[in-house]
Amino acid sequence: MLVSLFICPLCQSPLQPAADTWRCDGSLNPKQTTHPFDVARQGYVNLLPVQQKKSKAPGDSQQSIEARKRFLAAGHYEPLQTVICQQMEQLLAQNEVISEPITASITSSANAQDKNPVNWLDIGCGEGYYTQAMAQMGSDSITTLIAADISKPALVELAKVSKAASQLWYQQHKDEAEKTTVIYPLVTSAAHLPLRAHSVTGISSIFSPILPEAFAKVLADKGFLIIAKPDVGHLATMRDALFDSVREHDSDKFLQELAPYFTLIETHRVSTEMTLSASDLADLLTMTPYAYRARSEKRQALLAAVEQQAFSTEAKFVVYVLQKSADK
Ligand SMILES: C[S@@+](CC[C@H](N)C(=O)[O-])C[C@H]1O[C@@H](n2cnc3c(N)ncnc32)[C@H](O)[C@@H]1O
Ligand SMILES: [Zn+2]
Repeated sequence: MLVSLFICPLCQSPLQPAADTWRCDGSLNPKQTTHPFDVARQGYVNLLPVQQKKSKAPGDSQQSIEARKRFLAAGHYEPLQTVICQQMEQLLAQNEVISEPITASITSSANAQDKNPVNWLDIGCGEGYYTQAMAQMGSDSITTLIAADISKPALVELAKVSKAASQLWYQQHKDEAEKTTVIYPLVTSAAHLPLRAHSVTGISSIFSPILPEAFAKVLADKGFLIIAKPDVGHLATMRDALFDSVREHDSDKFLQELAPYFTLIETHRVSTEMTLSASDLADLLTMTPYAYRARSEKRQALLAAVEQQAFSTEAKFVVYVLQKSADK
């Protein structure tokens, strides 16, 4: 039996994607009425009800998204992007995760019957630098890619790029859907994922929130979780220039919180030496939240120095690969 991948954020009934308006079937709604969610012109769907919003414009701002987009497009974090995709390809090549056939969309439903579909959630995807690379891995790796973030400006950007590349769920015909990864850009909170329990093969959280229980709930048995975080020493020379004393990233405190639900399978460290121009550094400061805590004189002095000479700093990351434990 084919069941829906998505659930209504208001009443948890099955939610059916469509090209113009997604609609739940209302079966779990005490009033038995359905809830409609319009597809935005750019191609994303807003599944974040007002009551789940903690502020008027939650998540990353337009300004930080633009800065991150420029910085990442220059390729500074490409080694991390490569490692994340390699890890995913390896995991999915030996994929034993059993997910039920799921109607993610009208077009890919027939495809889902032919092979075991891989539904991947990239939570806190931002404007999609890593998400787009995951989609390039092709449908042999990922059938359905759910790109989710609480920031509307992030999803507008991601959806525009996906739409231009004809990767959105409603743009694909049956033949193409078998070859191409289908993308669903969703505005949603990580705490209230609009996904059916046990429906997702894997989740990536790249510098984004980690919610062990919410992730375990939507993951299939033996589902994967890939987490990327800054490592000790990340951007050390930049932080030395900005702060009198530097507090290290506490890289693995969250592992204790994941332990009841997940087993750590592998840890990979990635480091890359970067040479940054003044505009690269300005973008890096804008996209790095703690840089705002630096004294303004220190920030200005650093930027002025870099106008004269390019700045070198090392980016250091840790990638954790985890698997959902049995019976969770
Ligand atoms: C540091 S950015 C990382 C973006 C992207 N993964 C990348 O590395 O380029 C963190 C992202 O998490 C999003 N975010 C923050 N809280 C969230 C929540 N509760 N649910 C979903 N996304 C959230 C922000 O809007 C932001 O886009
Ligand atoms: Zn509903």
